[in-house]
Amino acid sequence: MSNIKTIASYFDNLAAHWPEDEKDACIRDRIIQRACLSPGNSILDIGCGKGVMVPHLLKTAPKEIIELDVSKEMIRLGRERFSLPQITHICGDIFTVPLLSIDAAVVFNAYPHLMDKQALAKRLHRLLNDQGIVIIAHSKGKEFINAIHHDDGLCEQISIPLKTPLKEFEFFSSFFSLEDWQDTPDLYYMKLIKKNSTL
Ligand SMILES: C[S@@+](CC[C@H](N)C(=O)[O-])C[C@H]1O[C@@H](n2cnc3c(N)ncnc32)[C@H](O)[C@@H]1O
Repeated sequence: MSNIKTIASYFDNLAAHWPEDEKDACIRDRIIQRACLSPGNSILDIGCGKGVMVPHLLKTAPKEIIELDVSKEMIRLGRERFSLPQITHICGDIFTVPLLSIDAAVVFNAYPHLMDKQALAKRLHRLLNDQGIVIIAHSKGKEFINAIHHDDGLCEQISIPLKTPLKEFEFFSSFFSLEDWQDTPDLYYMKLIKKNSTL
């Protein structure tokens, strides 16, 4: 379903000029505060780009942050930007890259590119510790996101339009409960909590 090479090369080409989005820093802060991540967590930042979430995740006093992106250019620039002992940068595909267990996964401005939602739900369930948290968020509403992901073909190959949080939750409901959500023009937000692995 997903065309991972096309996605990686698309974002490799954009990486050098990928915006820092300073104006959205307070929305990112709100997202991470609302997630209520405990100190000492291992956090996986999926589709991290150049690390726009890192300063916000650091405020939760994590044990470690794993910055994961399939674009090697994004990872190279992120590594240059944030070289701290508690941060690991990995270039890889969330669906296949070997990873150890984690307490929380954050998918910020990247969910539409993770094309196989059912596989994503299973993969995150496997990776997360019991009661593990998944945050799926955008610093804009779904109408805006869906409008920028629409062109004469390439965007359709590398992204899937966002549905409402309740619709997206259908992919996750066997493995997670939906703890909190928002779908307004300024914020798209879902907080999922892993159900017990004895399912
Ligand atoms: C729209 S960018 C957002 C980057 C960053 N989160 C930000 O807000 O600046 C989406 C990122 O997801 C990454 N990505 C897409 N599919 C991925 C996958 N299967 N595994 C890991 N990263 C992926 C892309 O390479 C890209 O850097």
